[in-house]
Amino acid sequence: MKIAIGSDHAGFELKELIFKIVKEAGHEVIDKGTGCSCSVDYPDYAEAVSQMVSDGKADRGILICGTGIGMSIVANKFKNIRAALCNDLFTAKMSRLHNDANILCMGARVIGKGLAEEIVKTWLNTPFEGERHLRRLEKINIIERKVFDK
Ligand code: RB5
Repeated sequence: MKIAIGSDHAGFELKELIFKIVKEAGHEVIDKGTGCSCSVDYPDYAEAVSQMVSDGKADRGILICGTGIGMSIVANKFKNIRAALCNDLFTAKMSRLHNDANILCMGARVIGKGLAEEIVKTWLNTPFEGERHLRRLEKINIIERKVFDK
């Protein structure tokens, strides 16, 4: 898959590690920044990654900030985005099985590197279950269209 990845300063170090892991797993990874630990604003990086996924220029996205909260708030403003804040393995798995999440958000100040690595691997390798969940995603699409077409 083509994966866009981004972080703010709080997530920078973890992003560098996740970039390597995702690449080693055989995916194409596009790094949308940030490029260092100096203070930046998370909405800028959330926008860059979410826009790519929203436009179909990347299959999925990964966003990392201090908590993952800011990134998920911004990402879910974009059309076609189902961003999931997953700081544990269960929600990472369920966000794929039931929600077909296309952006994973994590908090670098919440979880350690080892857990983050496992969350990413689980999230990338778990398929969407479909069936009854398709109906629910379609309802999300209907809401999205109502909001965007206002
Ligand atoms: C930056 O200090 C911090 O607010 C940010 O990384 C993130 O946690 C916001 O949700």
